[in-house]
Amino acid sequence: MKEIYIQWESLAELRCVRYRPILMAQLNHLFDVDSLNLNQIEILFSKAKNFKTHRITPNYVNKLVALLFLEPSTRTKLSFEVATLRLGAKAIYMDSKGESSLKKGESLEDTFWTIHAMNPDAIIVRSDREFDLLKSIEKSKIPIINAGYADVAHPTQALLDAFTLRERFGSQKLKLLMLGDVSFSRVARSDIKLFEKLGYEIAICSPNADLLAKEHAQLKVLDKIEDALKWCDVCMGLRTQWERHKNINLEDLKKNYQLNEKNISLLNPKSVVMHPGPIRWGEEFASSIAEHPQMIYRDQVTNGVYIRASVLDLIWSEKNV
Ligand code: CP
Repeated sequence: MKEIYIQWESLAELRCVRYRPILMAQLNHLFDVDSLNLNQIEILFSKAKNFKTHRITPNYVNKLVALLFLEPSTRTKLSFEVATLRLGAKAIYMDSKGESSLKKGESLEDTFWTIHAMNPDAIIVRSDREFDLLKSIEKSKIPIINAGYADVAHPTQALLDAFTLRERFGSQKLKLLMLGDVSFSRVARSDIKLFEKLGYEIAICSPNADLLAKEHAQLKVLDKIEDALKWCDVCMGLRTQWERHKNINLEDLKKNYQLNEKNISLLNPKSVVMHPGPIRWGEEFASSIAEHPQMIYRDQVTNGVYIRASVLDLIWSEKNV
């Protein structure tokens, strides 16, 4: 990604002695939110708002997106596909290790570079650490977007989370609580980076809080769910990452960290409950709160399409602002 730079308008064109700085925001790839500057974040929010208020304009009929999903997905894969189609572009995807030449022993790296050699206009990748996504991004001439990488990063989820809160609360600096299996969550890692940039206060309440707290010294750790719920403006539930580790006792999780019909009443009535999905009802959230009025997890899904369309639009747009 290129750094912000200042472009000075030509004095001859202006025909008077004045200058105006224009902040450029070129985006070449997206691995994680730490590479985004505040200008780019605001541009993405503004594009998403515009797409939502009016519609996603089909300006990219000649573009082709390749979706390479090597871990399961519903929301991210389909919302990237919806965004691509709404932008007028076409999508192809490979979403199963079992139905490709990976089954014949081809490596993930070879699979990626085979798709790259077909010259799509963007490659959207979800994978585990077996594939070195960052190294491939460094070598790629085609824009690469991370759609969820192991427990490391999920930048478009963080962007859609932040956009959902921007829509509801404006630029308020909120208190964000992450509840559940935080330390093995890529969503938690990207959310923390993005919400810190946006000036939020962040706390975690989790059976494995220590692991993540070691990575981020500024995180507040709240041991009791009741205290955490009273403290926050936003409660972000996170799914237990059973596919990555088995170090959580389910009974302990349900007893001490589950949001349920009783403790949800401790939230301020203006606070909201989020979840990136998929939700395992009966684990991180009791099924009885699925329709609770403070839940906004469907808004997150809706906004995922607009944010993903905005990321593609920013990458493909000529002027980038
Ligand atoms: N939030 C999220 O990444 O969901 P999927 O795994 O369904 O894409």
